Amino acid sequence: MTIRLGDIAPDFSQESTEGTINFHEWAGDSWVVLFSHPKDFTPVCTTELGEVARIKPDFDRRGVKIIGLSVDGIDEHRGWIGDIEETQGIALNFPLIADSDRTVSNLYDMIHPNADDTLTVRSVFVIDSNRKVRLIITYPASTGRNFAEILRAIDSLQLTDNYKVATPVDWEHGDDVIIVPSLSNDEASVLFPGGWDEQKPYLRVVEQPNL
Ligand code: BEZ
Repeated sequence: MTIRLGDIAPDFSQESTEGTINFHEWAGDSWVVLFSHPKDFTPVCTTELGEVARIKPDFDRRGVKIIGLSVDGIDEHRGWIGDIEETQGIALNFPLIADSDRTVSNLYDMIHPNADDTLTVRSVFVIDSNRKVRLIITYPASTGRNFAEILRAIDSLQLTDNYKVATPVDWEHGDDVIIVPSLSNDEASVLFPGGWDEQKPYLRVVEQPNL
């Protein structure tokens, strides 16, 4: 199954380190980051899970729940969680799906057989509070992800939803943003009464609204 931006994230029921997850019910009205790990007891994943546990408050602040996945069983997960705590100095504070029957991996197309026919790739799905898939990133197994970039992208998505602005190249929180092209100047003047810097009719730069 191919999942594309704008699709409703497929629902599933699967075991996790925090009990059975009925995905849509578990998500409630939060945003969600669902991210996969090739296998338990692997080095890159161990560092990623420690880091995500450490920055979980940054996801909480944005109304985003986190859920990991690996294609091993619950007993392996429990052993691995101990290793993560021991080596990364922090306990896992979000559920890790035990996808040993590949239910979720197949549903979300996380196994790319020409890369590896059993391990998942490093998939990231950002799902909004309406269950829509808003961002998909795929990394190879050997490259650890940058979760600061995932937070940055969530900030951009939420700015667009809330203020009708887009974010330019290499944007960081606090930098100027761009009024979305679909907004007319008349509509923009209601939302941005302080005006904007019109570098081109399609390139209207304005201060980040929620500072
Ligand atoms: C890892 O998670 O560390 C890993 C998994 C597969 C290949 C290389 C690294």
